[in-house]
Formats: sequence, C-alpha cells, structure tokens
Amino acid sequence: MSQERHDAEPAQTIHGGSPTRRVRARDLLAAKHRGQRWAMLTSYDQYTARIFDEARIPVLLVGDSAANNVFGHTSTVPITVEELLPLVRAVVGATAQAMVVADLPFGSYEEGPTQALRTAVQFMKTTGASGVKLEGGRRFVPQIEAITNAGIPVMAHVGFTPQREHTIGGHLVQGRGETGQGVVDDALAVAEAGAFAVVLEMVVEQVAARITREVRIPTIGIGAGPGTDAQVLVWQDMAGLRTGRMPRFVKRYAEVAGVLSDAATRFAEEVRGGVFPAEEHTFQ
Ligand code: KIV
Repeated sequence: MSQERHDAEPAQTIHGGSPTRRVRARDLLAAKHRGQRWAMLTSYDQYTARIFDEARIPVLLVGDSAANNVFGHTSTVPITVEELLPLVRAVVGATAQAMVVADLPFGSYEEGPTQALRTAVQFMKTTGASGVKLEGGRRFVPQIEAITNAGIPVMAHVGFTPQREHTIGGHLVQGRGETGQGVVDDALAVAEAGAFAVVLEMVVEQVAARITREVRIPTIGIGAGPGTDAQVLVWQDMAGLRTGRMPRFVKRYAEVAGVLSDAATRFAEEVRGGVFPAEEHTFQ
C-alpha cells in the first residue's frame, strides 16, 4: 500500500463516528495516547460477532476460551488449531469494523519461533483475522519477534496465563508482593518485542496500573482492576449465558441464560398444547 493511500484512510474512532474500515493496532495506540478506554469481548460465532460489531466493540477475540465456552472442556489446554480456525472465519465473516484477533492454542507456538510463525501465518492466511494472540512473557519474546517481523500483529498475554495453569498451580492472582516486578518485566519485554497490546489477567491492581503507565502499548485487563487502557470479558460471562460460580472479576450485564430457558420452556409448552405451529406458520 502506498503512503498516500495509507494517509488517506479515514481515522477510526474507537467510540462513535461512522466506521468505514476495521480497527487497526494504530487506532488502539492512538486511543491510549488520548486516554480513551475501550472494551474487548470474546466471540466464537457469527451471531454474537455481528451483534458486538454493531455495538461498536472495537476488538473481538476468538479466544482459546472456546475450549470451555463452546466445546465444554474444563480448561483451555485441549483446544486445537483445527477447532479454532472455523470459529475465527465465522467471526471475521460477520464483522465489518472490529479488529478480530485469533488466539494461538496451547501446543501451537511453544516449540519456538518457527512453529509460532507457521501457526500465526495459517490463521492469517485462512481466516482473515487482523492479528494473533499468544500467552507468555519474557520466555516468548523470540516467538513475538518472529511473528511481528513477518508483518503479523501480536497481542501478548501475561499475568495469569490459563494455558499454563498446571505449572502456575491453579487460577491464582499474579503480581502480589515481590512477584510484581516479574509481571512488569514480562509486560515490558513483550512490548519491546513488538506486541501491539498486552492482556493482563488476574494481576493485582497496583501492578496493572504501573504496567499501563510504563508500557507504550495498550493494556487490556481481565481481573486487573480499573487502571488498564481496556477491559476484556468472555461474552458468555458478560451476558449471563454461563451460570454458576463466577470469578470475582466478572460483571453480568444481562441474564441471557434465563431468557433462553424461558423461550425453550414456552416453545415446548406450545408444542405440547397444540398452539404452535399456528396458521401463520403453516404452508397451504
Ligand atoms: O481466551 C480468552 O478468552 C482470553 C481472554 C480471557 C483474554 O484469553
């Protein structure tokens, strides 16, 4: 793309305005400079993707949390590249303005930069995603450098990294006491390696706020307090489709499980009572 064409691209407002193109990494950086906060949601299918896109959510993550929220696993470890690819394609296909980020699943990038780049290229070439995400800090700098050097935007993820829950020892808050410096060092290292944003998961508020001040890239918090540049939630948690015990950091903005349960119950009642289908639902 020529420089003229690049400059002629209309500036994307993260909130409001009329979008004519997808959000890019540079829009998120500009938002950080303006002090403008934004929201990210997960999405794994065409209907939620379209709804969130129309709600002007600037970044949609096709997370490996699909392992839990789509496929019913108890951790993110089992999900594969082959299972995630069609979900990313569906989300990209249903959206016009959101930046769609594809999560690299466990086992698809840890071997080294060559494996990481190969997986990232597969996601970019076959899904239309605008970037990829991977979990890990200092140890994954070579992977982040290899992917970004190839021209693929990378979102990093430090603090609690669910793919490594077995070595972390469970869903534990990160950055308390002396360990805080390690989380800061991870965030600084991934930014230096070229990541365009970094997710801070279950990081104590003071450390997340310090990272947000010290790194030049946007920070996206989940369980990291109000001091980050952006916030992300899994959509089923945010909308109340998942029921049962929730992590402390989740806020439910709707009770979708109740709405669906009510609809299913009424449908079954009407079928049993001969109310549905009525004449207007019937071909003559
Ligand atoms: O996979 C996922 O949903 C995530 C978010 C929680 C950031 O990594």
